[in-house]
Amino acid sequence: MEIARATEIFDRLYSSVPAYEIAQSEKKRTGKLDASTTYGEIVPQAFYEVLSAVTPREGEVFYDLGSGTGKATLLAALAFPFRRSVGIELLPGLGDAARQVLGQFDAQVRPQLPADHQQRQIEFIDGDFLQADLSEADVVFAHGTCYPHEVIHGLAMKLAELRPGARVVFVGHTFDTPELGFLRMMKMRTDWGSALAALYQRR
Ligand SMILES: C[S@@+](CC[C@H](N)C(=O)[O-])C[C@H]1O[C@@H](n2cnc3c(N)ncnc32)[C@H](O)[C@@H]1O
Repeated sequence: MEIARATEIFDRLYSSVPAYEIAQSEKKRTGKLDASTTYGEIVPQAFYEVLSAVTPREGEVFYDLGSGTGKATLLAALAFPFRRSVGIELLPGLGDAARQVLGQFDAQVRPQLPADHQQRQIEFIDGDFLQADLSEADVVFAHGTCYPHEVIHGLAMKLAELRPGARVVFVGHTFDTPELGFLRMMKMRTDWGSALAALYQRR
């Protein structure tokens, strides 16, 4: 689907989701107050440009590691030909918000979309991405400017196990992992400012 149409749908679905408030209260409720749960979100056009640079192909599987209210996951499913888009989020209240938006999407938007969109799977999983099974992932996105060193280290090991050919877009850090071939850096606008996205391909 054209990015303009995807953005229109996306803006409607997310117009009244108080993401930062949910993140703040979930951090307090769960006691997960460290830097890794610092919140921030993608903006559609910039996300689209960065993801386009790793050329998502028909039938591939997308993962967002640390998916928040699900913006990147939903937009990936709308604007690219992924067969399946999965978000993994540590704070359950954010996962609940993502599933609520997905419920609205399924009820109000999906039935109006072309047949190929009707079949696309979108899923939001509560949990720690460091424990997740990423064996089916073809394109992995993570927006983790504030992830601390130990999380980055854990992620680097996890991403080294992706299947050959899988692509990674990491916003906020670079990896020095031999299994990940560096593709390029891109400037990416987010809702909190400008960041750098590092693009890799699993060797
Ligand atoms: C900067 S936000 C990005 C949200 C979304 N990906 C976006 O770009 O719009 C990072 C998210 O990662 C989550 N997170 C941090 N560590 C995590 C972990 N180990 N497993 C799953 N989610 C995690 C945080 O709670 C937060 O919601």
